[in-house]
Amino acid sequence: MEPRDTLGRPLRDLRVSVTDRCNFRCRYCMPREVFGRDYEFLAREMLLAFEEIARIVRVAVGLGVRKVRLTGGEPTLRHGLPDLIAMLAGIPGVEDLTMTTNGSLLARDAAAFAAAGLRRVTVSLDSLDDAVFQRMNDAGVPVSRILDGIAAAAATGLGPIKVNTVVKRGVNDSGVVDLAAHFRGTGHIVRFIEYMDVGHSNGWRLDDVVPAAEIVAAIARRFPLDPIAPNYPGEVANRFRYRDGSGEIGVIASVTQPFCGGCTRARLSAEGTLYTCLFATGGHDLRALLRDGASDDELAAVLAGVWTARTDRYSEIRSAATAGWQKVEMSYIGG
Ligand code: GTP
Ligand code: 5AD
Ligand code: SF4
Ligand code: SF4
Repeated sequence: MEPRDTLGRPLRDLRVSVTDRCNFRCRYCMPREVFGRDYEFLAREMLLAFEEIARIVRVAVGLGVRKVRLTGGEPTLRHGLPDLIAMLAGIPGVEDLTMTTNGSLLARDAAAFAAAGLRRVTVSLDSLDDAVFQRMNDAGVPVSRILDGIAAAAATGLGPIKVNTVVKRGVNDSGVVDLAAHFRGTGHIVRFIEYMDVGHSNGWRLDDVVPAAEIVAAIARRFPLDPIAPNYPGEVANRFRYRDGSGEIGVIASVTQPFCGGCTRARLSAEGTLYTCLFATGGHDLRALLRDGASDDELAAVLAGVWTARTDRYSEIRSAATAGWQKVEMSYIGG
């Protein structure tokens, strides 16, 4: 039986973080002051083994999950990732298997991922301007490296690629139209994401958020746009197509137009803790269950119980009262 949460939402997507490490230090996600040399990342034995991840996915599929997304930190840093991809691709019922990556290692890895059964990939890229991009990733990675990664992924059949751009006021907002212009006509889809108050280290302020409506208006001034219907119910991006037929863009307005009503996503941390919201303050330890010898039925019962009790709708209740919550970090829980 497929569980529904307290708001009637089914479980459809599982976002699986395979590492909490990243080779970038994006200011809005892993600022160096917090994620410095002394920061203690998860030790190897804390991480779920691939077999453990595959088992959780198999059980989750039995409860309604159809889409699996690998996340991090930066998922491509996890050793042997193609082996995990192959295991997940072989699970009947996984209709969509994808990954969100910063793209820095895709030129090296895309072919292996595709061969293992990955179907598509989403690549984060915040600016086409090297100075701006390097200020944002704080790791000295040039734009060309990400564009090469995107090209490699497209060449191995992982396209059309979705390109995720987090927009921060006064930092990269002036480059939004350039990004749209660059990917227009390529078949790739840029999605502009409102900067969110994830975790508790990025110093988020509402003033830093550029509302999606403003982003759409800026692009439409140069390239006329028309809204189009979602690809599937609960899609997080609002879609717009270029009137001249040269493709589409998306905006993810999680701050100004929250979409909790259709949220069917659960997140699994690299150490096997299950979270039912991106803004969660706590989760449910599945690793302990697995390592204590729970059966698949027991695991399914726990998962179903957690989902049935779910009340999350953080983006709809964001307020002064929620500002002090000790939320888990995005790099830990996956985007
Ligand atoms: P597609 O299947 O390609 O449409 O994927 P998606 O839109 O689920 O993918 P993606 O992981 O690229 O999501 C884009 C961004 O939207 C994420 O990186 C987050 O920043 C944001 N996002 C995704 N899911 C949620 C969510 O449940 N809540 C909130 N607040 N933001 C989310
Ligand atoms: N607000 C919005 N999006 C964010 N991401 C990371 N941190 C934030 C934030 N504070 C995005 C990344 C990537 C995805 C995993 O989430 O850029 O595209
Ligand atoms: Fe790494 Fe992605 Fe976070 Fe940037 S947003 S620090 S690339 S996990
Ligand atoms: Fe889902 Fe939480 Fe995001 Fe709302 S804030 S859409 S409940 S993950």
